[in-house]
Amino acid sequence: MVRTVYIRTFGCQMNVHDSEKILGVLQKEGYSETEDPRKADLIIFNTCSIRQRAEHKFYSELGRVKSYKKRRSKIQIAIAGCIAQHEGENIFKKAPYVDFIFGPQNIHMLKDLTSGRTAPVAIKDNPEIVITDLPAKRADGVKAWVTIMYGCNNFCSYCIVPYTRGRERSRPSENIYSEVAELADKGYKEITLLGQNVNSYRSDIDFPGLLRRLDRVGGIERIRFVTSHPGDLSGELIKAMSGLSKVCEHIHLPMQSGSSNILRLMNRGYTYDDYIRKVSSLREKVPGISITSDIIAGFPGETEDDHLLTIEALKEIEFDGIFAFKFSPRPGTRAAEMRGHLPEEVKSERLSQILEVQEEITEIKNRSLEGTIQEILIEGGSETDMEKLTGRTRTNKIVNIPKIDVEKGSIISVEITKGRKHSLEGRPIKK
Ligand code: SAH
Ligand code: SF4
Ligand code: F3S
Repeated sequence: MVRTVYIRTFGCQMNVHDSEKILGVLQKEGYSETEDPRKADLIIFNTCSIRQRAEHKFYSELGRVKSYKKRRSKIQIAIAGCIAQHEGENIFKKAPYVDFIFGPQNIHMLKDLTSGRTAPVAIKDNPEIVITDLPAKRADGVKAWVTIMYGCNNFCSYCIVPYTRGRERSRPSENIYSEVAELADKGYKEITLLGQNVNSYRSDIDFPGLLRRLDRVGGIERIRFVTSHPGDLSGELIKAMSGLSKVCEHIHLPMQSGSSNILRLMNRGYTYDDYIRKVSSLREKVPGISITSDIIAGFPGETEDDHLLTIEALKEIEFDGIFAFKFSPRPGTRAAEMRGHLPEEVKSERLSQILEVQEEITEIKNRSLEGTIQEILIEGGSETDMEKLTGRTRTNKIVNIPKIDVEKGSIISVEITKGRKHSLEGRPIKK
C-alpha cells in the first residue's frame, strides 16, 4: 500500500535540504509526497529555533493538525529539525498527539521510527553522519544543495545552532565529489555547497581544495556556497574564488554588526576593521563580486552609537543585499543572560532604519547594472508573471526576461534593461 507524507519546512537551506533527504529516505520506504496535510498518513514538521518567531509559527501550526488526528486516528505526526533536537521529549508534554521526534543527525532512523521499532525520540549525537550518504529527493532539476559539513563550533553568543546541530564535522571530499558527479550525470547545472560555516570545512582537504576539486566536474556550470564566516575567510579562498571558472562571484558573509564592541559581545572573533579588510580584498581580487550579509538589530547592550556604526557600515560597504533581524533571546545561549536587553520598540525602530538604508543601496546597485551584459541560468517561468522567464546572474541576482524558446537549465546572455529593488529586468542577446 502506498502511504503519503506531507512535510512542512521552516528555517534555513540546511533544513530545506534535510527535508529533501527525509523525503528521499521515505520514498525508499514506499511513501509518496502529498501537498495536502489532510490526506497524509504521515505529517512531518521540520522545525527551526533560530528566533522566537519561527518557534511560535511552528507551535501554532502544530496545534492545527491536532484535529486531523481526531478524525483519522491512524495518521502519524512527527517533529524533525532544530526544535526537535533541542526540546526532545518535552515536545510530548506540550503535544501528546505527536508520534515521534528526530533531530537533524538522525534522519537515517526514519524507517525504524515510522514502524515503531525504536523509541520515539531520536536525538543522539551521530558522528557517522559524515559518511552516511542519504538519498535526497530534490525539488529542482537544475540546482542542487550539497551538504559538505554538519554542525557548528563557533558559539556566537546569540545563536542556538551549535546546540541544535551539534559539533562541526566535515564529509570526506570523496563522498562530496561522487555526489556532485552524480548530480552532473543527472543534468544538474548548479550546486550550492551547504554548511553553517563552509570555509572552516576540513577533512582530507580544506575548503579551497574542495572547490578546486569540484570545479573539474564536467556538466556542472556553477558552484555556490553558504554560509561563510568572516573569521575563516582566507586569502587562499579568495584566490580560489578568483581563479576557478565555475565558482560564482557571490559571497554571503554575515557581518552582524558594524560595531567592534558588539562584535566582541557576539563572540564573532573579528573587528569591524578586520571585516572591511576582507571585503576590500574580495572586491580587489574578484571583480564584480556581490557581497550579501546578515545583520542583527538591538543586541543586548547595543547603544545608539553602536547602532549608528552599523548604519555607517552599511553605507561604507554597500552590500548587494542583506537579511536583517531583531535580536531574539534564545534560552541557553550566553546573550540571553547578558545585561542590557533592549525594549521591543527600540529593536523594531533600529531594524526599520537598517532596512531603509539598505533598500536604497540595493536599488542603486541594481540600477547600476542597467546596460551591462550578464550571463543567466534559466530556472523556469517567473512566479509573478506568466509571460516571463526567470534566471539568476552569477552574482545571484534574479533577472526576469520575456518568454523565449530556451530550456530550463540553459545559460544565456542578457542585457540588463532595468534594475529594481528585488530583481532585474533583462532582454536576451545573441552572443
Ligand atoms: N551560520 C551562519 C548563520 C546561521 S543563522 C553564520 O554564521 O553566518 C542565520 C542568521 O540568523 C545569522 O547570521 C544571524 O544574523 C541571525 N540570527 C541567529 N541567531 C539570532 C538571534 N538569536 N536573534 C536574531 N537573529 C539571529
Ligand atoms: Fe550560529 Fe555563529 Fe555558528 Fe553561524 S557561526 S551557526 S551564527 S554560532
Ligand atoms: Fe533554524 Fe536550525 Fe537552520 S535553527 S536557521 S533550521 S540550523
